[in-house]
Amino acid sequence: METPKHHIFVCASFRTDGEAKGMCAKKGSSAFLPYIENEILDRGIDAQITAAGCMKMCDNGPVMVIYPENVWYGGVETEDAVDEIMDALEDGNTADAYRLNP
Ligand code: FES
Repeated sequence: METPKHHIFVCASFRTDGEAKGMCAKKGSSAFLPYIENEILDRGIDAQITAAGCMKMCDNGPVMVIYPENVWYGGVETEDAVDEIMDALEDGNTADAYRLNP
């Protein structure tokens, strides 16, 4: 079975009661899912995207994490930010302006 090279998790602020209450959802993170999916397809990046529950980094939302690189991004609030992150992923780099972890 083939698995994707990258797995991108986008915080959609799901909580145990099923409601999306967190900062990432309030800042529109779910609206970026189709945009990110289109960028993955347009660029031919071997990646899967998944809407995730709260990643416990709410103050830094909207949060996105890319595995297996284990790169955490915050403040992903614009298409420009997504573009910068996708550019970096394509190039094997990180978009340090949004990076949360060293
Ligand atoms: S709501 Fe996104 S990290 Fe908590």
